[in-house]
Amino acid sequence: MLMTATLTLADLAATSPSATRILEHYGLDYCCGGKQALEDACLSKGLAPEKILREIGDAGAATVADRDWQTAPLDELVSHIVETHHAYLKLDLPVLEARIEKVVAVHGAKDPQRLPRLAAVFTGLRSELEAHLHKEEAILFPFIVQYGRAESRNQPTPPVPFGSIANPIAVMEREHAGAGDALQEIRDLTDGYHPPAYACATVRALYDGLKALEKDLHIHIHLENNILFPRAIALEKR
Ligand SMILES: [Fe+2]
Ligand SMILES: [Fe+2]
Repeated sequence: MLMTATLTLADLAATSPSATRILEHYGLDYCCGGKQALEDACLSKGLAPEKILREIGDAGAATVADRDWQTAPLDELVSHIVETHHAYLKLDLPVLEARIEKVVAVHGAKDPQRLPRLAAVFTGLRSELEAHLHKEEAILFPFIVQYGRAESRNQPTPPVPFGSIANPIAVMEREHAGAGDALQEIRDLTDGYHPPAYACATVRALYDGLKALEKDLHIHIHLENNILFPRAIALEKR
């Protein structure tokens, strides 16, 4: 579909989960106000439609990236993870939490067993993930980038303050497993992201958002556990 500013917010939202997230981020209502054209909605909010379209296009392009990460330079893989997957979480986790709070406030009494539990599991996942991203960006990833640079210059890997790079990696992998357990519980609590009969647009947006979160987090953890971390450990053993 050719994306132009004359498309309605509802049509744009349907192009991808990233589009929904970006519209929500800018407060562009694609549910009840979905029949409005992007250009009109932007005008009333003082936003530039070109900027929104570009962000939606870039997010779509990022999800179809077909780079061979087994051979790409390590610093490029680290940048890709941070700019694509960490950026996604930083933008999406607060949006999803606000949606869950709204759903619990409005519909909590309809499913008192599961909705408060869903909120609790999500809040726990969010705080674990935010601390996790910080540890990767501030501590582990800078050393992995240095390892990659040493390799490209054919130099030995620099010493690390934690004995072996395998030590912080083992901690990150344990945290990934914890996030995977939380995602599984969220999937169970939402019947595999199938909205209940009472679902309004906000409940459906919540379930769609949680499903997209699971998908993105699965790719993210795959890139780290299965590609980035083994490559860093192999460099150290060289
Ligand atoms: Fe990460
Ligand atoms: Fe991670």
